[in-house]
Amino acid sequence: MCPNCKDLLQIGYNYQSLRRDFTASIRKSGPLSVWRYKHLLPVSSHNAVSLGEGGTGLSPSVRLAGRLGLSQVYFKNEGQNPTGSFKDRGMTVAITMAVELGARTVVCASTGNTSASMAAYAARAGLRAVVLIPKGKIAKGKLIQAIVHGARINQVSGNFDRALEKAREMAQKGEFYLVNSVNPYRIEGQKTLAFEIWEQLHYKLPDSVIVPVGNAGNISAIWKGFRELHELRLAGRTPRMIGIQASGAAPIAAAYARRESVVVPWKSPETSASAIRIGAPASWKKALRAVQESAGAMLTVSDNEIIRAQRLLANHEGIFAEPASAASVAGLAKAFRLRLVRSRDCIVCVITGHGLKDQGAIDSN
Ligand code: F0G
Repeated sequence: MCPNCKDLLQIGYNYQSLRRDFTASIRKSGPLSVWRYKHLLPVSSHNAVSLGEGGTGLSPSVRLAGRLGLSQVYFKNEGQNPTGSFKDRGMTVAITMAVELGARTVVCASTGNTSASMAAYAARAGLRAVVLIPKGKIAKGKLIQAIVHGARINQVSGNFDRALEKAREMAQKGEFYLVNSVNPYRIEGQKTLAFEIWEQLHYKLPDSVIVPVGNAGNISAIWKGFRELHELRLAGRTPRMIGIQASGAAPIAAAYARRESVVVPWKSPETSASAIRIGAPASWKKALRAVQESAGAMLTVSDNEIIRAQRLLANHEGIFAEPASAASVAGLAKAFRLRLVRSRDCIVCVITGHGLKDQGAIDSN
């Protein structure tokens, strides 16, 4: 955080001087990956702690879009990352940075996916990992991932927001390196999702990108990626960013609906999409800015809509997403009903994590 204004930091570059190197690396053939974009990452790729993150599929919808009355929908399938979620994009950069800074122990608060990812990358780097999770509130599959990779698990009474407060306190004392998305290096890795979409659409940008929102790091990161492409004069019109919150955990959507510029935390967020059960999103300012600057929106969907979307995606497209991830598909239907997207628009739904991680929603329905 900035020591003066206490706001989150953001990494900037001299874009003009980087443009040539960046475009040269794009012209090289080779697989998509986070480190393909090393010229716009703040750490050296020589020391990258990598498990092969990024390069996830962008599949055109074959059946679901038509059913909704849309013609050009894509799913960016982040469940294909090494630990099964988009978190790996940010974690490879944050853990590389942790090693560069000489950290010995990394810490995070998590609703599950961050802890799974951090534990895996810390194991790879030989760092100790401590995760703080809301007691009894995270999906078993994700907890097992953190355990198997050797992280120390601390269950915190209260919700994710309390766990994040604790993790930030621990980091402030200096012994632990914090890798939640308040860490600006995480955001840098996650922004590569925007670069990949641009490459996968043959150097064009979609009209809208729909993203599930919890702590709000990801929507901020993806928007930063699109803005950087614009800054580099590689892309023209940037997409609308449409954030989706679960209606029981929707402080940013509530502020957006009331046209307020400040997000008031919710004390007891509740949703069966446990990954986005967050009442005090740390990156709310960046998220609101992303929505405003892109002429996008921040909407809510109910748990029923989420579960229905999860089934539709699995039954019509062969993609098994966890409930939080299916929020983007539920949000797509809502955005269309609200005429925020039109039938011929090119739309990308970000599917943030794999369904095998969180089977509770299927068991209980
Ligand atoms: N989708 C999934 C599957 C997630 O795990 C998360 C966040 C989000 C969406 C929302 O992303 O927080 O950047 O707005 N999971 C975090 C965690 C909070 O601890 O794993 P966000």
